[in-house]
Amino acid sequence: MGALDIGIDLGTTKVIIYQPGKGELLHEPAVISVDTRNGQVIAVGEEALRMLGRTPGYIRAEFPMEGGVISDPMLTETLLKECMRRACESFLVKHRVIICVPSMVTEVERRAVIEAVIHAGGRKVYLIEEPIAAALGAGVDITRPNGWMLVDVGGGMLDAAVISLSGVVVSRSARFGGDKLDGEIIKLIAAKYKLLIGKKMAQQIKHEVGNVFDPSPARTTQVKGRNLLTVYPQEITVSESDIYEAIQPFGEMLVDMVKRVLDQTPPELVSDIYENGILMTGGGSLLKGAAELIEHETHVRTHVAENPAECVSVGTGRAFDYIDILQTGFSAESTYK
Ligand SMILES: Nc1ncnc2c1ncn2[C@@H]1O[C@H](COP(=O)(O)OP(=O)(O)OP(=O)(O)O)[C@@H](O)[C@H]1O
Ligand SMILES: [Mg+2]
Repeated sequence: MGALDIGIDLGTTKVIIYQPGKGELLHEPAVISVDTRNGQVIAVGEEALRMLGRTPGYIRAEFPMEGGVISDPMLTETLLKECMRRACESFLVKHRVIICVPSMVTEVERRAVIEAVIHAGGRKVYLIEEPIAAALGAGVDITRPNGWMLVDVGGGMLDAAVISLSGVVVSRSARFGGDKLDGEIIKLIAAKYKLLIGKKMAQQIKHEVGNVFDPSPARTTQVKGRNLLTVYPQEITVSESDIYEAIQPFGEMLVDMVKRVLDQTPPELVSDIYENGILMTGGGSLLKGAAELIEHETHVRTHVAENPAECVSVGTGRAFDYIDILQTGFSAESTYK
């Protein structure tokens, strides 16, 4: 296979590699397990996810990204290398890569991403800010002098930005994403019901009865765990209302961030946003009530993009058509030597 143009969404929870004109080449959880005795990769993605918390001491299974940025450079590089090998079927050919970064990353964090891609087999690397990629992926015409507000709710971070004329005008991000809610749910279930549950169960609870807008005691789900007092397995029923206090602060943060970005937005663009509405992307935007809450609190129509978790990856692929047009939020950072 020859050199390709590929877009990469290196997220906190998943890696997606997208080829313009072809579609998704790879979609895997951003987890890797490595044998620390010889540095050999044991598993990547789905298989490594199953190993989390179940490995002997000499095997490390980890999510190498945290809060939208690289927390373990070595593991991230290995993860990217393996994903690019699988997706592009070759180590030897150097590809042109557009990869996303959150809108408020530091220079050091940007360099870390570039280094990781170059070492993993990138020839020329372009960085694109996530809101721009999300907008492109959601089908927004970003080249017009027309303001759009994008809110990306990822696993590791929240990103809210106003985009106009191919650039980011105002943005804010927080290293706090949907995954934090899983921990809050674990704490609440332990404190309220004396039941110990795992991360997977907590995520399932969030997906089924997480509601930040109009929680109802009638919408329930079954929760399995271990009773902290008797140590026996136990199953209980919890409702949206029961877990509301664990997720309500997240809703407040989301609204606060959107309001702050709106506050800093020039008036002409604010009127565009009132017209266009707010567009939500990222897997966390599927949290029930998130869009309704923002709409209720800001009085701006808010909707969730189609396939919100895939918008950024599709956008990184589409960005190849905009390389010469994109202004802020996009940069050609490095060329393989
Ligand atoms: N139906 C749902 N309800 C609530 N949350 C959901 C739902 N589906 C997915 N999520 C959450 O979305 C998050 C993952 O979103 P996404 O795939 O956009 O993250 P990411 O791009 O890997 O992370 P980041 O952009 O923060 O680096 C997870 O926290 C997941 O639990
Ligand atoms: Mg993301």
